[in-house]
Amino acid sequence: MPLPIVVVTRQLPPKIWNQLSTHAQVVGWKEDRPVTREWLLDRIPEAEGLYCLLTDRIDQDVLQFGKRLRVVSTMSVGYDHIDISACTSRNIPVGHTPGILTETTADLAFALLMASARRIVEGADYVRQGQWAEWKPDLFLGQDVFGATLGIVGFGRIGQAVAQRAQGFRMKVLAVRSPKQNRGTSKLPDATETSGESSNGHPVTFVDLATALAQSDFVTLHVPLTSHTHHLIGTTEFHLMKPSSILINTSRGAVVDPTALFHALQEGIIGGAGLDVTEPEPLPASHPLLTLPNCLVIPHLGSASTATRTLMAQMAVENVIAGLHRQRLPHCVNPEVYQ
Ligand code: DGY
Repeated sequence: MPLPIVVVTRQLPPKIWNQLSTHAQVVGWKEDRPVTREWLLDRIPEAEGLYCLLTDRIDQDVLQFGKRLRVVSTMSVGYDHIDISACTSRNIPVGHTPGILTETTADLAFALLMASARRIVEGADYVRQGQWAEWKPDLFLGQDVFGATLGIVGFGRIGQAVAQRAQGFRMKVLAVRSPKQNRGTSKLPDATETSGESSNGHPVTFVDLATALAQSDFVTLHVPLTSHTHHLIGTTEFHLMKPSSILINTSRGAVVDPTALFHALQEGIIGGAGLDVTEPEPLPASHPLLTLPNCLVIPHLGSASTATRTLMAQMAVENVIAGLHRQRLPHCVNPEVYQ
């Protein structure tokens, strides 16, 4: 029996490729850029498995052509690039990579927070440009992180890992569990504060979105992108924030309205932003946000450590292999396919 075909939309580490090759004929995109739509649509009709990345849009069209697909596996924890309900209605399990990138992404969120607060990149650029002629008492004054209030919007694994880091800086942590409950006509529900702790035992105060925005010196976003969280942070929300407040986004770009963010930063409605994710992504060099000194943008590096990306590739391939063998995926987004 010939091995089933698995389409892979990016080059795999050799070890992972070899592992997959013992279970499948691997048809891989060879270029060091996201796969083209044409290439994917040409190959997907033969595929029984698809190993994809967050840069690939796996929508009705792909699934329509992929009539033989038995499994879709993304090398990411986020899966907003995949039409999950279309996969479920075709009985295709979707695998992802939860858990293993939690600490790495929390590190990056905290790094962005520190860099934005203390103007690290502006300072480094100043030195490189040969402008460092003297010590000045008011050079690149930033904000204290130690003792500040941190609003964490979305208190899942990554949000809690950020809270843990904040304890080391003796920050007051305000956590918003379900920001989507704050959507709707007013977006401003009653504030019911409760004290509690994160699953790792650190003290937090649970508040609604409006309270977190109003009271925090730093607001960090850790929600998945859904129809409820699309442009969760827009003009109304920026006006609730302190003029000195810094927004950190390592979740998905479209959780923030970029036009509203530009105006909020330009007009001093908020103090700054540190973004690992943007809308659009990649952000073109000509984008207005990149003209602002108080906006620090990096290219979606949340999980980008060698160790974590290796583990993600491993987990993604294990999901594909399980799907090819019609076994339950170890990390399945839509377990209802097994009912
Ligand atoms: C994910 O896995 O969804 C992350 O955004 C990658 O860094």
